[in-house]
Amino acid sequence: MASYFIEGGKRLVGDIKISGSKNAALGIIAASMVLDGPCTIDNVPLISDVDVLLNICRKLGATIKQSGEGSITIDPTTVTTYESTHEMTRSIRASYYLLGALLSRFQKAKLTMPGGCDFGTRPINLHIQGFRSMGAKDELKNGIITLDATAEYHSGHLYMDQASVGATINVMIAATKAPGTTVIENAAREPHIVDVANFLNIMGASIKGAGTDTIRIKGVDRIPGNQHYSIIPDQIEAGTYMIAGAVTRGNIVVRNVIPKHMEPLSMKMKSMGIQIEEGDDWIRVSVGSNDVIKATNFKTMPYPGFPTDLQPQALILLCVAEGIGKMHEAVWANRFQYIEELKRMNADVTIAGPIAIVNGPQQLTSARVPARDLRAGAAMVLAALIAEGTTEITSVRTIERGYQDFVAKLQKVGAAITVGEDSEMLERE
Ligand code: UD1
Repeated sequence: MASYFIEGGKRLVGDIKISGSKNAALGIIAASMVLDGPCTIDNVPLISDVDVLLNICRKLGATIKQSGEGSITIDPTTVTTYESTHEMTRSIRASYYLLGALLSRFQKAKLTMPGGCDFGTRPINLHIQGFRSMGAKDELKNGIITLDATAEYHSGHLYMDQASVGATINVMIAATKAPGTTVIENAAREPHIVDVANFLNIMGASIKGAGTDTIRIKGVDRIPGNQHYSIIPDQIEAGTYMIAGAVTRGNIVVRNVIPKHMEPLSMKMKSMGIQIEEGDDWIRVSVGSNDVIKATNFKTMPYPGFPTDLQPQALILLCVAEGIGKMHEAVWANRFQYIEELKRMNADVTIAGPIAIVNGPQQLTSARVPARDLRAGAAMVLAALIAEGTTEITSVRTIERGYQDFVAKLQKVGAAITVGEDSEMLERE
C-alpha cells in the first residue's frame, strides 16, 4: 500500500502539461465498441481507470494496441460478446457506457452494475429510461443488469429532470445505430460529452446538438471508423493544478488546456483576487507576495456551472482565503466525507446540509489522512502542500486512477512530495 509524504510550505512555480481528459477517454473508448472498423485515439491519459476499461474491452474481444505515447488503436470488429460480468467491470463507474455501446452493437447487453467513487447513491434510472424508450427490456438480478432490444430497437426520447452526464453519453452511444432520430432533452453539456459526440461523428455517426440542451442522434447502419481522434485536455486535472498554484501562493502555468473549459474556475479565482493570465492553450495562475486571497461562495452545478469534481480542491482554496466562504454541493448528496479528515489537519469547516462553511484563513497542520476518493484525495494533497510539517496521505492508488504522473508533475514545480510505503503497514510488518 503506497502513501504520499508531503512536506508543506513550498511555493509551486513552473509549467505543467495537462493530459487528456479522463472522462472523455472513458466515454470514447466505450463508444469505440460500436464502430465497424478500427480507430486511433491520441492524447489518451495514462491512468489506471483507462487501463481497466481497455482490459474490459479486450475481454469483450476488442483488439487494442498501444501505437505510441498516449496513442491507442482499437479494433472492435473482433468483439464477440455482449456480456461483461467479471469483477473488473464493477471496479470503475464508466464501464456503464458499455451498456449503451453493446446495446447499439448487439441490441443486447449484460453487465455487472458499476462501482466508482462513493459519494452517495449513484442511480442509473435515467440511463435505463433512455434505453427503455428505444425498445429495450431490462432486468436487474444479482447485481447484473441485462438489456434486450432484439424484439424492437428504434429511436427513443429522453427528457431528464436532472441533467446527467452519464445518461446523456450512454443514450447518445446507444442511439448511434437505432433506426430513426433519438432526442435527448435537458441534456448535460459537459465538454467531454461534446468530445464523445465529435469522436463518434468523425467515425461516421450522426449526432447534432452536443454541448446544447437538446441532442439529436440519427441512427446509421454502419459507423466505418478508420479515422484518428485526439482527446481534449482534462478540465479537472488542469483545475487541480491551478488551485495548487494559488494555495501555495505560487506561479503555475498549465499548458495544453482549453481556457474556455476552465472559465467556471478562473472567473471565481479572479473574483478572489488571484491573478489569471490566459493564452490560446495555457493559463497562468499566480499570487503576488502582497496579494490577499478573499473568500467567496461556490455552488456546484452541471457545466457551464462550477464542476462538482473540483469541489474538494476548491474548498482548500477557501481554507487559505480571508473571511467566511461557502461551498454548496448541489450535484452529489454525500460528497463532504473528506472534510472530517481535513478537520484533523486543523481546517475550520462547518457542514450545514449541502453547504460547507469555511472560516479562513487557517494554518493547516500535518496528519496521516486517507485519499477517500479520487478528487477528495487530490484535495488532501493540496491541503498537505500548505500544511505545517509532513503529511502522509494513504490509499493513494485512488488518486492515480485519474491523475497521470501526479507525483512527477508536482515535483517538477517544486513540491516536496515522495511516494513510500504506508507507515502503519510498515509498523505492522
Ligand atoms: C460524471 C463524472 C463524475 C462527475 C459527474 C457530475 C464520469 C465517468 N464521471 O458522473 O466524475 O462527478 O459526472 O459532473 O464522467 N442521477 C440520477 N439518475 C441517473 C443518473 C444521475 O438521478 O440515472 C443524478 C445523480 O444522483 C447526481 C446527478 O444526477 O446527483 C449527476 O450525475 P451524473 O451527471 O449522471 O454523474 P455521472 O455521469 O455518474
